[in-house]
This record gives sequence, structure tokens and C-alpha cells, in this order.
Amino acid sequence: MDVENHGILIIDFGSQYTQLIARRIRELHVYCEIHPFNIPLVEIEAFNPRGVILSGGPASIYEPGAPQCDRSILAMGIPVLGICYGMQAMAHLLGGTVAGSSQREYGHAMVTIDETADLFQGISAGAGNGQISVWMSHGDHVEQLPEGFESIAYSENCSVAAFGNFPRRLYGLQFHPEVVHTSHGANILSNFLFEICDCEPSWSMESFVRQTVEEIRRTLGHDRVICALSGGVDSSVVAVLLHQAVGERSICVFVNNGLLREGEVESVFRVFRDHMHLNLRYVDAEEIFLEKLKGVADPEKKRRIIGNEFVYLFEREARQHGDVRFLAQGTLYPDVIESTSFRGPSARIKSHHNVGGLPETMNLRLIEPLRELFKDEVREVGRELGIPEEIVSRQPFPGPGLAVRIVGEVNRERLQMLREADAILTQEIAKSDVYPEIWQSFAVLLPVKTVGVMGDARTYEHVIAIRVVSSLDGMTADWVRLPYEILGTISNRIVNEVQGINRVVYDMSSKPPSTIEWE
Ligand code: XMP
Repeated sequence: MDVENHGILIIDFGSQYTQLIARRIRELHVYCEIHPFNIPLVEIEAFNPRGVILSGGPASIYEPGAPQCDRSILAMGIPVLGICYGMQAMAHLLGGTVAGSSQREYGHAMVTIDETADLFQGISAGAGNGQISVWMSHGDHVEQLPEGFESIAYSENCSVAAFGNFPRRLYGLQFHPEVVHTSHGANILSNFLFEICDCEPSWSMESFVRQTVEEIRRTLGHDRVICALSGGVDSSVVAVLLHQAVGERSICVFVNNGLLREGEVESVFRVFRDHMHLNLRYVDAEEIFLEKLKGVADPEKKRRIIGNEFVYLFEREARQHGDVRFLAQGTLYPDVIESTSFRGPSARIKSHHNVGGLPETMNLRLIEPLRELFKDEVREVGRELGIPEEIVSRQPFPGPGLAVRIVGEVNRERLQMLREADAILTQEIAKSDVYPEIWQSFAVLLPVKTVGVMGDARTYEHVIAIRVVSSLDGMTADWVRLPYEILGTISNRIVNEVQGINRVVYDMSSKPPSTIEWE
């Protein structure tokens, strides 16, 4: 924590949007920290926040075990903003009542602003008839206001869409200002931060780097840390942060599992060994992985084999540096919510192996400096650290690599076809001006053969599927409407240049219901 800048404390009641609140606050250049709802009062006092935000959450306030924060937070004299469940929690703690709505509200709703000062300052001017379009996601709502509070906005289904106690600087919003679908959401948060909490817009990526480097140093003391470097953006940023913090006491292990894209090994050496001078350990395990994957077609089985083998090799490396006690990982916020949830594990969609797994089987303490960031924020950190653009603007790449892009068995021949097709796709996309809109673009090798004709001869060869998606965080995605000319060039080149492929198809599925990777 930066002692100079007592930012905003976000108290988490488990909403899927909590990290988004933090992100919006960072975008307004204010420091913030997220803590669980049961954070002890002494810790809050030590943090000394300029203001507190109570997040939303999935619970209903009167249900047994519903999370609640310490009532004293509301009596500290600092501004508090409750959002959705956070608003209801505040109302409940202060003697108001909360009721289940006869009509639940999810999605867009129109809210009329009654009180244009404070939280809604300057907003009604930009909104027709004092109405703004907001994102609602609730079943319950505040029915009876606590003493000293007044309603400052309403919607058709909710007579108290926002409330405030102006002298005490306590506010609540039934809707989510942090979500882009709420028009003027950023203005509402900005009013809370600057008009009500008197925050300074002094936080930047540079301060993130400085604070994180200091924190890593504090955590490690004189110990050493080991870090798995994949060459992707996340682990690269972690590796460089560690290097800045503790230099040679950070050991980066780069495992070549034989499932990497064309040129990846060379690129990792060039950037991290030659340019950034990291303490890099290279493990060539291509043979081992391919041997273990022989004959395996089931996607989850492949993932498990790769994950286990990785853990095994990594443990072996760690043992060679016997005095290492810490493990650093490039876990990001979206990895965290797809793999865990507030009240226990959520439905496991795919076993992403960079969350969980390693720390449980190894006796190492975990460091995850990017845990609260979104991908584009990590890229900004990378640029701040001077990591070359070829790494920073790289698309995400799954831990199990090309194995989850070869439907069916993985072998050298198939890897070769996929690598070549993928390299062509990458070159053509890089040349086009659609690159910045793309979250991921890759080729997938299908286990079907189809008939074609080349020259005068019949062919019977494999199919490549092209997957190009846009996304904010990988949790939802849409297929990109690539111009036909680019698709045409990609298809022509793949069929002409890659031996064994005679057909190219384009994947037009969004997530959900599909996932981004095919396996
Ligand atoms: P899906 O296929 O689940 O992918 O829609 C969402 C995002 O996660 C990436 N992905 C992975 N990343 N280890 C990773 O580090 C994995 O096992 C893994 N599986 C998928 C995927 O590329 C996409 O960006």
C-alpha cells in the first residue's frame, strides 16, 4: 500500500463485478484495494481510506449466512458508497428494510434522478429528462429508508434506485455504475471519488509497478522465488517485475512442451535472456510431452496430462534450487473468477491449470502480483516495464498450447501442419488493420479428412478451422467479422503452402455458448 495515498477500500460481498469497480477506480487514477467483507476494523483503520465502496453480491440480505461488514465502517466519518447488495447491507445495518422485488430487474433499466447534487452532479444535464440508462442486476431492493436518508433516484420497479444521507456522506446505488452499460457510470464514480471523498487522481501504472516491486521485496525478504515463464504477456510481466524486485534471486523456468507456436522458443530467448537479462532456465521437454500424449484424444485427459507433467518438471526444477520458498504466477482476475467463486467452486468449464494445481502439490508460497488486473491493464504494466511490444501485444495463449487446438490425437505431423497454418494466419492478421480489435486469432486442426482437387489430382486431406474472436477478458467473446479479402488470402495461402491441408473453414460461434478454444 502507498502510505502517501490512502485511496479507496472496496469491501467485497462476492459480486462478479467487484474487480470491475476496482478497474474503473484505477482508470480514474485513484489507488484502491479490495478486501473481503469480514475485514477487521483495525485493518480498515490502518489502511485509512478516503472512502469505502461496498460491492454487490449474490446473497439476499436476510438469508442465513448472508455476508455483512462491520457496522462501525458506517460510523467512521468517511464516505461510503453501497452498490446493489452493498446498498442493501448499508440500509439493513442502519435500520432500514429490504424487500424481495415482485419483479426482478436484470439488464437495462431507466432511472430518473431526483437529486442532481453530490453523486449525480453534472449528470442530469447530459441525460434527457433527468433519466439515465443503467445496468440492474438484483432481486431485492431497499423498501424503507434508514433514518436520515432520502431517495435520490427511482426506476419503474424500484422506488429507491439510489439513496443518500448527505451530512454523513453515505450513499447507495441499486444499479451498477462500474458496468459500461450504465450511461454516466464513470461520472457517478468520479463524483464519489473527487467530489465526495476528495481523492487525488495521482495513481498510475508507474505507481503500480513501484508498489508491486516494493511489495515483492517485502514478501520475499532474502528468499528466492521461482516463476514459470511461458512467453505470454502475463508470466512475462510477472518475470520482469520479479527481476526488478530481486534480480538474480528470481529464477524463471521456461518449459518447452513441444506444443508451442512457430518461433516461440527463439522469441523467448531473444527477449528475456538477451534483452531483459533474466535469470532463465530452459527445459526442453518436447519428447516427454509428446510421448505422454501419444494416442490421447480426450480434451480433459490431454489437459490433465500436460498439467501434471508440467507440475512434475517444474517441481524437479524447484528441487534443484532447494532453498526456494516462493512461486510466482501470472494469474489474472478473469482466471480467478472462472476457476473459483465466492461460495466455493463454480462450475468448472475447463481446467485452466495456472490457477490452483501447482501450489497445492508444492510446498511453495504463492505470489500473484497481477491477480486483480485485467489483461489490457497487464499490457500497460508490461509497457511501463519496458517489455518489447512483440511480447506485450501478444494474444493470450493457453497453457496446454497447440494440444487444445488439435482436435483428436496430438503428434508431430499434426503439430507441424497446425504450426504452419497458424503462422500464415498470424502473418496475415498482423498485416491487416484489424489486429487491435482482435483478442485471439488462431488455427485449429480438425480430425477429419475431406476430398479436394489439386491440379488434376484428387486429394483427401485435413481441414483447418480459423478462429478469430474479440473479447474484453476472455470470459465472453464474439467472432470477428473479418473482411472477405483477408479470409480469402489466409485460406489460399494455407491450402497452397501447408502440405496435408485442402480445406479451410471459418468459426462463427460466440462464447457462450461455444468457448474460445476448441477443447
Ligand atoms: P475458453 O476456451 O475457456 O478460453 O473460452 C478462455 C481464455 O482462456 C484461455 N485458455 C487458457 N489459458 N490455460 C491458460 O492459461 C489454459 O488451460 C487455458 N485454456 C483456455 C483461452 O486461450 C482464452 O483466452
